[in-house]
Amino acid sequence: MPVDAPRRTALVTGAARGIGRATAGALAVAGWDVVAGVRDPAALVPFAAPGVRVVRLDVTDPESVRAGVGEAEALTGGPLGLVVNNAGWALFGAVEDVDPDLARRVFDTNVFGALAVLQAALPGMRRAGGGVVVSVSTLSGRVPLPLFGLYSASKLALAAITEALALELAPVGVRAVVIEAGVVRTEFALATVVSGAAGGPDPLYGPIRDRVLGSLRAIRDQAGLEASDVAAAVVRAAEDPATPARLVLADAGLAAVADAVGGPAADALDQVRAHLGLPVAGEPDPPAR
Ligand SMILES: NC(=O)c1ccc[n+]([C@@H]2O[C@H](COP(=O)([O-])OP(=O)(O)OC[C@H]3O[C@@H](n4cnc5c(N)ncnc54)[C@H](OP(=O)(O)O)[C@@H]3O)[C@@H](O)[C@H]2O)c1
Repeated sequence: MPVDAPRRTALVTGAARGIGRATAGALAVAGWDVVAGVRDPAALVPFAAPGVRVVRLDVTDPESVRAGVGEAEALTGGPLGLVVNNAGWALFGAVEDVDPDLARRVFDTNVFGALAVLQAALPGMRRAGGGVVVSVSTLSGRVPLPLFGLYSASKLALAAITEALALELAPVGVRAVVIEAGVVRTEFALATVVSGAAGGPDPLYGPIRDRVLGSLRAIRDQAGLEASDVAAAVVRAAEDPATPARLVLADAGLAAVADAVGGPAADALDQVRAHLGLPVAGEPDPPAR
Protein backbone atom coordinates (compact mmCIF):
# COMPACT_ATOMS: atom_id res chain seq x y z
CA MET A 1 0.00 0.00 0.00
CA PRO A 2 1.44 3.45 -0.84
CA VAL A 3 2.62 5.59 2.05
CA ASP A 4 0.06 8.33 1.37
CA ALA A 5 -2.98 6.02 1.26
CA PRO A 6 -3.50 4.40 4.68
CA ARG A 7 -6.68 2.47 5.34
CA ARG A 8 -9.50 4.96 5.99
CA THR A 9 -10.36 3.45 9.36
CA ALA A 10 -9.98 5.48 12.52
CA LEU A 11 -10.05 5.18 16.30
CA VAL A 12 -10.57 8.38 18.31
CA THR A 13 -9.98 8.25 22.07
CA GLY A 14 -11.98 10.40 24.50
CA ALA A 15 -14.70 10.71 21.88
CA ALA A 16 -17.73 11.14 24.15
CA ARG A 17 -17.63 14.93 24.04
CA GLY A 18 -15.65 18.01 22.99
CA ILE A 19 -12.83 17.74 20.48
CA GLY A 20 -12.91 13.94 20.34
CA ARG A 21 -16.61 13.86 19.57
CA ALA A 22 -16.28 16.57 16.91
CA THR A 23 -13.32 14.70 15.41
CA ALA A 24 -15.16 11.39 15.23
CA GLY A 25 -18.05 13.16 13.50
CA ALA A 26 -15.86 15.08 11.07
CA LEU A 27 -13.93 11.96 10.08
CA ALA A 28 -17.18 10.08 9.48
CA VAL A 29 -18.51 12.91 7.31
CA ALA A 30 -15.21 12.85 5.39
CA GLY A 31 -15.81 9.18 4.61
CA TRP A 32 -13.69 7.48 7.25
CA ASP A 33 -14.88 4.32 8.98
CA VAL A 34 -14.81 5.65 12.54
CA VAL A 35 -14.70 3.95 15.92
CA ALA A 36 -15.24 6.24 18.91
CA GLY A 37 -13.45 5.17 22.09
CA VAL A 38 -15.40 6.24 25.17
CA ARG A 39 -15.18 5.41 28.86
CA ASP A 40 -18.90 4.89 29.39
CA PRO A 41 -20.83 3.81 26.27
CA ALA A 42 -24.08 3.59 28.27
CA ALA A 43 -23.94 7.34 29.00
CA LEU A 44 -23.09 8.34 25.43
CA VAL A 45 -25.33 10.72 23.50
CA PRO A 46 -25.63 9.00 20.09
CA PHE A 47 -23.55 10.45 17.25
CA ALA A 48 -25.40 12.44 14.60
CA ALA A 49 -22.84 11.50 11.94
CA PRO A 50 -23.68 8.23 10.23
CA GLY A 51 -21.75 5.02 10.83
CA VAL A 52 -19.75 5.93 13.94
CA ARG A 53 -19.27 2.77 15.99
CA VAL A 54 -18.46 2.86 19.70
CA VAL A 55 -16.09 0.83 21.87
CA ARG A 56 -15.43 1.10 25.58
CA LEU A 57 -11.93 2.44 26.04
CA ASP A 58 -10.39 3.87 29.20
CA VAL A 59 -6.83 4.73 28.22
CA THR A 60 -5.58 4.25 31.81
CA ASP A 61 -6.77 0.62 31.95
CA PRO A 62 -4.43 -1.70 29.99
CA GLU A 63 -7.10 -4.39 29.54
CA SER A 64 -9.60 -1.82 28.28
CA VAL A 65 -7.01 -0.49 25.81
CA ARG A 66 -6.16 -3.99 24.54
CA ALA A 67 -9.82 -4.94 24.18
CA GLY A 68 -10.88 -1.56 22.76
CA VAL A 69 -8.21 -1.42 20.07
CA GLY A 70 -8.83 -5.10 19.21
CA GLU A 71 -12.56 -4.46 18.93
CA ALA A 72 -11.97 -1.38 16.77
CA GLU A 73 -9.78 -3.44 14.43
CA ALA A 74 -12.40 -6.18 14.29
CA LEU A 75 -15.22 -3.70 13.58
CA THR A 76 -13.26 -2.06 10.74
CA GLY A 77 -11.95 -5.31 9.32
CA GLY A 78 -8.22 -4.94 9.98
CA PRO A 79 -5.47 -2.70 11.29
CA LEU A 80 -6.39 0.91 11.98
CA GLY A 81 -5.39 3.52 9.41
CA LEU A 82 -5.62 6.39 11.91
CA VAL A 83 -5.34 6.71 15.67
CA VAL A 84 -6.28 10.01 17.29
CA ASN A 85 -4.82 10.42 20.80
CA ASN A 86 -7.37 12.85 22.17
CA ALA A 87 -8.36 11.62 25.66
CA GLY A 88 -7.00 14.00 28.25
CA TRP A 89 -7.63 16.31 31.17
CA ALA A 90 -5.86 19.14 32.96
CA LEU A 91 -4.44 19.46 36.44
CA PHE A 92 -4.38 22.98 37.90
CA GLY A 93 -1.85 23.41 40.67
CA ALA A 94 1.43 25.05 41.61
CA VAL A 95 4.64 23.09 41.16
CA GLU A 96 5.40 23.81 44.82
CA ASP A 97 2.49 21.86 46.27
CA VAL A 98 0.53 20.06 43.56
CA ASP A 99 -0.56 16.62 44.79
CA PRO A 100 2.04 14.14 43.45
CA ASP A 101 -0.61 11.43 43.12
CA LEU A 102 -2.70 13.70 40.89
CA ALA A 103 0.45 14.57 38.95
CA ARG A 104 0.99 10.86 38.27
CA ARG A 105 -2.65 10.45 37.34
CA VAL A 106 -2.58 13.21 34.75
CA PHE A 107 0.49 11.59 33.19
CA ASP A 108 -1.30 8.20 33.35
CA THR A 109 -4.02 9.55 31.07
CA ASN A 110 -2.30 12.13 28.87
CA VAL A 111 1.01 10.31 28.35
CA PHE A 112 0.97 6.64 29.33
CA GLY A 113 -2.64 6.22 28.18
CA ALA A 114 -1.74 7.51 24.73
CA LEU A 115 1.38 5.34 24.74
CA ALA A 116 -0.69 2.24 25.55
CA VAL A 117 -3.10 2.96 22.70
CA LEU A 118 -0.20 3.48 20.30
CA GLN A 119 1.52 0.28 21.37
CA ALA A 120 -1.72 -1.63 20.80
CA ALA A 121 -2.38 -0.12 17.36
CA LEU A 122 1.05 0.38 15.78
CA PRO A 123 1.96 -3.26 15.12
CA GLY A 124 -1.16 -3.55 12.95
CA MET A 125 -0.33 -0.32 11.11
CA ARG A 126 3.14 -1.61 10.37
CA ARG A 127 1.75 -4.89 9.09
CA ALA A 128 -0.62 -2.93 6.84
CA GLY A 129 2.28 -0.90 5.48
CA GLY A 130 1.21 2.50 6.76
CA GLY A 131 -1.02 4.65 8.91
CA VAL A 132 -1.35 7.99 10.65
CA VAL A 133 -1.17 9.01 14.31
CA VAL A 134 -2.55 12.37 15.41
CA SER A 135 -2.04 13.55 18.99
CA VAL A 136 -4.09 16.43 20.36
CA SER A 137 -1.78 18.61 22.42
CA THR A 138 -1.81 22.24 23.44
CA LEU A 139 0.08 25.47 22.92
CA SER A 140 0.53 25.48 26.69
CA GLY A 141 2.65 22.35 26.28
CA ARG A 142 5.34 24.06 24.24
CA VAL A 143 4.91 27.29 26.26
CA PRO A 144 3.77 26.31 29.77
CA LEU A 145 1.33 28.49 31.66
CA PRO A 146 1.79 29.05 35.41
CA LEU A 147 -0.31 26.66 37.54
CA PHE A 148 -0.75 24.38 34.52
CA GLY A 149 2.83 23.06 34.80
CA LEU A 150 1.98 19.39 35.23
CA TYR A 151 -0.65 19.47 32.48
CA SER A 152 1.81 21.31 30.23
CA ALA A 153 4.52 18.76 31.05
CA SER A 154 2.21 15.88 30.18
CA LYS A 155 1.25 17.43 26.85
CA LEU A 156 4.85 18.28 26.02
CA ALA A 157 5.70 14.64 26.74
CA LEU A 158 2.91 13.55 24.41
CA ALA A 159 4.24 15.90 21.73
CA ALA A 160 7.77 14.54 22.11
CA ILE A 161 6.54 10.95 21.90
CA THR A 162 4.52 11.77 18.80
CA GLU A 163 7.43 13.54 17.10
CA ALA A 164 9.87 10.75 17.97
CA LEU A 165 7.36 8.29 16.56
CA ALA A 166 7.20 10.32 13.35
CA LEU A 167 10.96 9.95 13.03
CA GLU A 168 11.00 6.27 13.95
CA LEU A 169 8.21 4.98 11.75
CA ALA A 170 8.45 7.19 8.66
CA PRO A 171 10.49 4.48 6.91
CA VAL A 172 7.57 2.04 7.25
CA GLY A 173 4.91 4.49 6.09
CA VAL A 174 3.51 5.65 9.42
CA ARG A 175 3.09 9.43 9.74
CA ALA A 176 2.58 11.21 13.05
CA VAL A 177 1.30 14.73 13.65
CA VAL A 178 0.92 16.63 16.91
CA ILE A 179 -1.70 19.37 16.94
CA GLU A 180 -0.92 22.16 19.39
CA ALA A 181 -4.21 23.96 19.89
CA GLY A 182 -4.95 27.20 21.69
CA VAL A 183 -8.09 27.65 23.78
CA VAL A 184 -11.00 25.54 22.51
CA ARG A 185 -14.64 26.03 23.56
CA THR A 186 -15.41 22.69 25.24
CA GLU A 187 -16.21 21.44 28.74
CA PHE A 188 -12.49 21.04 29.38
CA ALA A 189 -12.44 23.60 32.22
CA LEU A 190 -15.21 21.70 34.03
CA ALA A 191 -13.12 18.52 33.93
CA THR A 192 -9.98 20.29 35.19
CA VAL A 193 -8.82 19.07 38.62
CA VAL A 194 -7.62 21.73 41.08
CA SER A 195 -4.90 20.90 43.61
CA GLY A 196 -3.21 22.74 46.49
CA ALA A 197 -2.81 26.44 47.16
CA ALA A 198 -3.57 27.36 43.54
CA GLY A 199 -7.22 26.74 44.38
CA GLY A 200 -7.35 28.95 47.49
CA PRO A 201 -6.79 32.52 48.69
CA ASP A 202 -2.99 32.25 48.57
CA PRO A 203 -1.28 35.68 48.36
CA LEU A 204 1.17 34.49 45.68
CA TYR A 205 -0.89 32.02 43.67
CA GLY A 206 -4.29 33.75 43.99
CA PRO A 207 -3.41 36.74 41.77
CA ILE A 208 -1.61 34.49 39.26
CA ARG A 209 -4.65 32.20 39.16
CA ASP A 210 -6.97 35.15 38.56
CA ARG A 211 -4.82 36.39 35.66
CA VAL A 212 -4.37 33.00 34.03
CA LEU A 213 -8.00 31.93 34.33
CA GLY A 214 -9.28 35.41 33.47
CA SER A 215 -7.15 35.47 30.35
CA LEU A 216 -8.16 31.96 29.28
CA ARG A 217 -11.83 32.76 29.87
CA ALA A 218 -11.58 35.97 27.85
CA ILE A 219 -9.88 34.16 24.99
CA ARG A 220 -12.42 31.35 25.10
CA ASP A 221 -15.36 33.76 25.04
CA GLN A 222 -14.02 36.24 22.49
CA ALA A 223 -11.58 34.37 20.30
CA GLY A 224 -11.60 30.68 21.22
CA LEU A 225 -11.41 27.90 18.69
CA GLU A 226 -14.39 25.61 18.19
CA ALA A 227 -13.99 21.86 18.62
CA SER A 228 -14.85 21.66 14.91
CA ASP A 229 -11.71 23.70 14.10
CA VAL A 230 -9.52 21.11 15.78
CA ALA A 231 -11.53 18.31 14.18
CA ALA A 232 -10.92 19.84 10.74
CA ALA A 233 -7.19 19.98 11.51
CA VAL A 234 -7.24 16.30 12.45
CA VAL A 235 -8.96 15.43 9.17
CA ARG A 236 -6.37 17.46 7.29
CA ALA A 237 -3.51 15.78 9.17
CA ALA A 238 -5.02 12.37 8.42
CA GLU A 239 -5.57 12.99 4.74
CA ASP A 240 -2.75 15.31 3.63
CA PRO A 241 0.71 13.71 3.74
CA ALA A 242 2.20 17.22 3.42
CA THR A 243 0.85 18.21 6.87
CA PRO A 244 3.76 19.29 9.09
CA ALA A 245 4.56 16.98 12.02
CA ARG A 246 3.75 19.89 14.36
CA LEU A 247 0.57 21.74 13.54
CA VAL A 248 0.03 24.89 15.62
CA LEU A 249 -3.61 25.90 15.80
CA ALA A 250 -3.68 29.25 17.53
CA ASP A 251 -6.80 31.04 18.61
CA ALA A 252 -6.70 34.79 17.98
CA GLY A 253 -5.93 35.52 21.65
CA LEU A 254 -2.80 33.40 21.72
CA ALA A 255 -1.41 34.35 18.32
CA ALA A 256 1.64 36.06 19.85
CA VAL A 257 2.39 33.01 21.96
CA ALA A 258 1.95 30.78 18.93
CA ASP A 259 4.45 32.88 16.98
CA ALA A 260 6.90 32.56 19.84
CA VAL A 261 6.58 28.77 19.88
CA GLY A 262 8.88 28.69 16.88
CA GLY A 263 11.44 30.97 18.60
CA PRO A 264 13.79 30.70 21.56
CA ALA A 265 12.18 29.46 24.78
CA ALA A 266 13.09 32.66 26.64
CA ASP A 267 11.20 34.75 24.08
CA ALA A 268 8.22 32.46 24.44
CA LEU A 269 8.15 32.82 28.23
CA ASP A 270 8.44 36.60 27.85
CA GLN A 271 5.43 36.50 25.55
CA VAL A 272 3.44 34.58 28.17
CA ARG A 273 4.49 37.01 30.92
CA ALA A 274 3.55 40.00 28.79
CA HIS A 275 0.30 38.46 27.67
CA LEU A 276 -0.85 37.66 31.20
CA GLY A 277 0.70 40.74 32.82
CA LEU A 278 2.79 38.61 35.18
CA PRO A 279 5.63 40.16 37.24
CA VAL A 280 9.25 39.41 36.40
CA ALA A 281 11.80 38.34 39.05
CA GLY A 282 12.10 40.75 41.96
CA GLU A 283 9.38 43.08 40.70
CA PRO A 284 6.22 43.75 42.70
CA ASP A 285 2.97 42.34 41.36
CA PRO A 286 1.75 44.78 38.67
CA PRO A 287 -1.81 46.04 38.90
CA ALA A 288 -4.37 43.76 37.27
CA ARG A 289 -5.29 44.79 33.73
N1 LIG B 1 -10.23 22.64 25.37
C1 LIG B 1 -9.05 23.18 25.14
O1 LIG B 1 -8.86 24.41 25.27
C2 LIG B 1 -7.90 22.32 24.66
C3 LIG B 1 -6.80 22.96 24.05
C4 LIG B 1 -5.75 22.19 23.58
C5 LIG B 1 -5.77 20.82 23.73
N2 LIG B 1 -6.84 20.21 24.33
C6 LIG B 1 -6.80 18.75 24.48
O2 LIG B 1 -7.86 18.22 23.71
C7 LIG B 1 -8.26 16.96 24.26
C8 LIG B 1 -9.78 16.95 24.38
O3 LIG B 1 -10.17 17.97 25.27
P1 LIG B 1 -11.60 18.68 25.24
O4 LIG B 1 -11.35 20.13 25.21
O5 LIG B 1 -12.47 18.07 24.22
O6 LIG B 1 -12.09 18.33 26.74
P2 LIG B 1 -13.35 17.53 27.31
O7 LIG B 1 -14.61 18.07 26.74
O8 LIG B 1 -13.14 17.53 28.78
O9 LIG B 1 -13.17 16.04 26.73
C9 LIG B 1 -12.18 15.18 27.20
C10 LIG B 1 -12.55 13.76 26.82
O10 LIG B 1 -11.46 12.91 27.27
C11 LIG B 1 -12.05 11.79 27.88
N3 LIG B 1 -11.18 11.12 28.84
C12 LIG B 1 -10.64 11.61 29.98
N4 LIG B 1 -9.94 10.65 30.62
C13 LIG B 1 -10.03 9.54 29.85
C14 LIG B 1 -9.54 8.21 29.96
N5 LIG B 1 -8.82 7.82 31.03
N6 LIG B 1 -9.81 7.33 28.97
C15 LIG B 1 -10.57 7.70 27.92
N7 LIG B 1 -11.09 8.92 27.77
C16 LIG B 1 -10.83 9.83 28.72
C17 LIG B 1 -13.31 12.29 28.55
O11 LIG B 1 -14.14 11.17 28.76
P3 LIG B 1 -15.48 11.20 29.63
O12 LIG B 1 -16.51 11.77 28.69
O13 LIG B 1 -15.71 9.77 29.99
O14 LIG B 1 -15.21 12.08 30.82
C18 LIG B 1 -13.82 13.28 27.51
O15 LIG B 1 -14.66 12.65 26.57
C19 LIG B 1 -7.54 16.83 25.60
O16 LIG B 1 -6.45 15.95 25.47
C20 LIG B 1 -7.04 18.24 25.88
O17 LIG B 1 -5.85 18.23 26.63
C21 LIG B 1 -7.91 20.94 24.80
